[in-house]
Amino acid sequence: MTQLIQSDQDGVCRAAAILRSGGLVAMPTETVYGLAGDATNDRAVAAIYEAKGRPNFNPLIVHVAGVAQLEGLVQLSKSAKQLANAFWPGPLTLVLPLAEGAQVSPLVTAGLKTLAVRVPAHPAAQSLLHEFGGGLAAPSANPSGRVSPVNAAHVMDGLGGRIDAVLDGGDCEIGLESTIVGFETAVGGQRALLLREGGITREALVDVLGDRQDLLTAPTSDEKSVQTITAPGQLASHYAPLGAVRINVKEPEPGETFVGFGAMACDLNLSKTGDLAEAAANLFRHFHKLDAMGATRIAIAPVPNSGLGRAINDRLRRAAAPRNNDQGTR
Ligand code: TXA
Ligand code: MG
Repeated sequence: MTQLIQSDQDGVCRAAAILRSGGLVAMPTETVYGLAGDATNDRAVAAIYEAKGRPNFNPLIVHVAGVAQLEGLVQLSKSAKQLANAFWPGPLTLVLPLAEGAQVSPLVTAGLKTLAVRVPAHPAAQSLLHEFGGGLAAPSANPSGRVSPVNAAHVMDGLGGRIDAVLDGGDCEIGLESTIVGFETAVGGQRALLLREGGITREALVDVLGDRQDLLTAPTSDEKSVQTITAPGQLASHYAPLGAVRINVKEPEPGETFVGFGAMACDLNLSKTGDLAEAAANLFRHFHKLDAMGATRIAIAPVPNSGLGRAINDRLRRAAAPRNNDQGTR
């Protein structure tokens, strides 16, 4: 049985107690819901992989209440500190060198010498992390290969019965996963690498990192071309609804369920006013709706490729990419 827990003071205490005893709690964040477990507890972390059906070569993000909690866990370079100051708490994940003797289950890093860390802004996540007092490993709270959940009901649909509890923090404000930035030590300085587009735009990163030492490398949807640091989770069909997806469609074909952007006739609209933040918040919500509707053929209108539109288009390309057979697609 999976308990649905309200995110009031009492609920947060109960959720923290479950986590301390090695259990799993889905926690709301401003990006998507995460499936949290004690990052120092091998059995809890193994249970995360098991509940998601995630291949264990794919490492997890450790969530902490604030940058002070990263002491002894990772090494923060100057550039990393700049980004942390600018965007935490918020939808940014930094991949950093693991500190020597760091107290973290090796299952979290899947054997890498780096650790992905993030300070989430959602008030319920903040309360839970303060109450728990340590780092929480948390991938998105969906079965592996399926769409990330952006409300508690989505988590229940995907993982109900397989985890201990869901802390209900309402709808996720951003609705897309965090932006992931890693660093590559190159001759003459450090290069920041954009490993996953997400809630912080490339433009905002460049504003902070805009000195000569730091160069942002173009993100890729092809995991093979990220060389020094890889984000193995960037598998092509990672964010797909169950139905077949066509993107950049201006005229849907008969029988297709049409997802629009801007003022147009369609079945579901990402944003009638053409607002990219609203479209980002609606994207996975609409994917979940399409699944619930039983849509088998889905056409999606073009979305401008600037600001948050880059992260939206990244997810759309993955949703439209050829699929593995083991993902239960229709
Ligand atoms: O918004 C988010 O980031 C959400 C919320 C819950 O925080 N979490 C999330 O986690 O999207 P997940 O596991 O679904 O995606 C994390 C990505 C994966 O693609 C993983 O491969 C990559 O981060 N990653 C984790 N540790 C890494 C590392 N040390 N080096 C490179 N990539 C890493
Ligand atoms: Mg995920």
